[in-house]
Amino acid sequence: MSVTLKDIFNTLPKYPKFIEGIRRAPKRDLILTEDEVELALKNALRYIPSEWHDELIPEFLDELYEKGRIYGYRFRPTGRIYGKPIDEYQGKTLEGKAFMVMIDNNLDFNVALYPYELVTYGETGQVCQNWMQYHLIKRYLKIMNDHQTLVILSGHPLGLYKSHHISPRVILTNGLMVGLYDNAQGFQRASALGVANYGQMTAGGFMYIGPQGIVHGTYSTLLNAGRIKLGIDKDKDLKGVLFVSSGLGGMSGAQGKAMVIAGGVSIIAEVDDSRIKTRLTQGWIDVVYDNPKDAFKEAKNAILSGLSKAIAYHGNIVDLLEYAVDHQVKIDLLSDQTSCHAVYEGGYCPQGLTFDQRTQLLKTNHEEFKSKVNQSLINHYHAIQKLSLNGTYFFDYGNSFLKAVYDAGVKDICKNRQNDLDGFIFPSYVEDIMGPVLFDYGYGPFRWVCLSGKESDLEKTDAAAMASIDYNRRFQDRDNYEWIKNAKRNALVVGTKARILYQDAKGRLKIALKFNEMVRNKEVGPIMLGRDHHDTGGTDSPFRETSNIKDGSNVMADMATHVALGNASRGMSLVALHNGGGVGIGKAINGGYGMVLDGSSRVDEILSSAMLFDVMAGVSRRAWARNEHAIETAVLYNETDDHSMITIPFVSDEKHLKLKIKTYRGGK
Ligand SMILES: NC(=O)c1ccc[n+]([C@@H]2O[C@H](COP(=O)([O-])OP(=O)(O)OC[C@H]3O[C@@H](n4cnc5c(N)ncnc54)[C@H](O)[C@@H]3O)[C@@H](O)[C@H]2O)c1
Repeated sequence: MSVTLKDIFNTLPKYPKFIEGIRRAPKRDLILTEDEVELALKNALRYIPSEWHDELIPEFLDELYEKGRIYGYRFRPTGRIYGKPIDEYQGKTLEGKAFMVMIDNNLDFNVALYPYELVTYGETGQVCQNWMQYHLIKRYLKIMNDHQTLVILSGHPLGLYKSHHISPRVILTNGLMVGLYDNAQGFQRASALGVANYGQMTAGGFMYIGPQGIVHGTYSTLLNAGRIKLGIDKDKDLKGVLFVSSGLGGMSGAQGKAMVIAGGVSIIAEVDDSRIKTRLTQGWIDVVYDNPKDAFKEAKNAILSGLSKAIAYHGNIVDLLEYAVDHQVKIDLLSDQTSCHAVYEGGYCPQGLTFDQRTQLLKTNHEEFKSKVNQSLINHYHAIQKLSLNGTYFFDYGNSFLKAVYDAGVKDICKNRQNDLDGFIFPSYVEDIMGPVLFDYGYGPFRWVCLSGKESDLEKTDAAAMASIDYNRRFQDRDNYEWIKNAKRNALVVGTKARILYQDAKGRLKIALKFNEMVRNKEVGPIMLGRDHHDTGGTDSPFRETSNIKDGSNVMADMATHVALGNASRGMSLVALHNGGGVGIGKAINGGYGMVLDGSSRVDEILSSAMLFDVMAGVSRRAWARNEHAIETAVLYNETDDHSMITIPFVSDEKHLKLKIKTYRGGK
């Protein structure tokens, strides 16, 4: 027996109406030959019952030529899609229904970046490639029983297969390519052919929880950047500190809010008016200016009055920074969060073009667009260089900005002035801050969703998580405690009732077991646990998550692969492995999970092994790379855990080693 669109639609549905004002994806680069266009069409028609082909062929061709991809708009359900309370979904398993909640949340008009094109965030991060896949996935989730696993390849549901009651219910991959073709061009082709999906991190793994997911990480990054680079005391906040960056999109939209929570002032440049409006309505931005002078004046006033404030500058980040250079404005912390992982696909708006002009040029002249992007990146880099000389601390915030500047032709940005193998002259935030302060200890972006949709469940879980934190253990625990204590007041929820809370391995396990007990006792409804792929062990990405791995293994993707395999073998409900993450195809392998808490002892058992493995595999690899705090954490784990043993490195004395090598060479 197999599932087809005929099981879902008796007749070809009417073409849907598109609601005005909902953001639409720009045209994607279409690099197919005529024969390949035919192949792309044939591929899409595999989902379509034969009697509908004639009507859909011209429609799909229009989509391909107009939008660069076949999305199958015809099958987009009418009206708003959103993550409803789990009881409103039908299915044979709790997991099946839970994943439907998560998928629909990822496509909510209020959550997703380009909901009609199934893009959740990060310019190109899609739930799946087209609406035909969306329906088939949901139908499989509905009929799946607890001895079956749904297998999804780049959004395509390959099928339901017999497995075991403690097997994952969903295993999915996105954009994993054979090495020879594992580059932006190879991916563009495969994606236009309809065989590759860009899952970003949580978009294609169904675990996106709106910009809240990144507010905590951005808050921790900014706070610790202030402590490490500006000498701010661990017990103080960022009062009086000015942070400048760009992007108020899916993830970048968290920057203003995070800085307000950290107590400081920020100016965030954004070219797209609609995204500024979203953040203003949400209350995550306080005020907007369309000229740099007023924006900096407002920031200065806020700083002098000791207030925290999120200011949006409606315009290009390069113009804002050039103004700061020309007028010698002192910026303390500086970053960028334009979508540089997809720099030539519309992710980065070049200086000199408005947002609408950028969309138009993408459609009409891709080569000219590319050359404008390159020039803009070069100007951007020069402004950063000048500001850095004036004491600004610039860090790459995981969007592949430094790599994009290098690809635009700036070799000076490389540490070795030749190539990117030794990294860049400016640090990635993981290299300097998040890696040593958080990931090496195992602290990462643990999260949960209250599937009942009830605010009261979220409040109860917040309180239970807060009670699980040992406030006096480390300063990181104090930061996390403060975060969860204020989470409700900070009004972070967009979409489903979700919460993010950075925790280490044992912290996550403690909270997970407590939540499962609460579900068992019917204090709360079922809960979905998950995490961002951007974590201690989830992602191999030399320009980001693993940029503080210095033993040469930063070019390897063994860790992320093992974490995914290990989580699957231990029975996590959903396991995902993707190519590209937040930095772009070929630059990262990243994985994540979803774990549905139903209150059972089966779930307790899965949690007790999988939650620890998921984090400690990452800590172990970081320890083996000789990272100091990871070694401490791994040694402590070996002393306190009876069931696992981590291999600990012997660390050689650098000075002695150099001397011995010198002697050896001298003797030859
Ligand atoms: N560090 C992390 O943890 C992390 C997490 C998620 C995403 N990312 C990366 O950050 C980037 C942004 O993610 P997102 O989800 O916000 O993407 P997004 O595409 O939704 O938002 C980027 C925003 O930048 C704006 N923009 C583009 N060029 C500009 C310019 N020159 N000046 C001013 N504004 C400009 C766009 O209009 C857009 O609103 C991506 O590359 C993503 O992969 C990093």
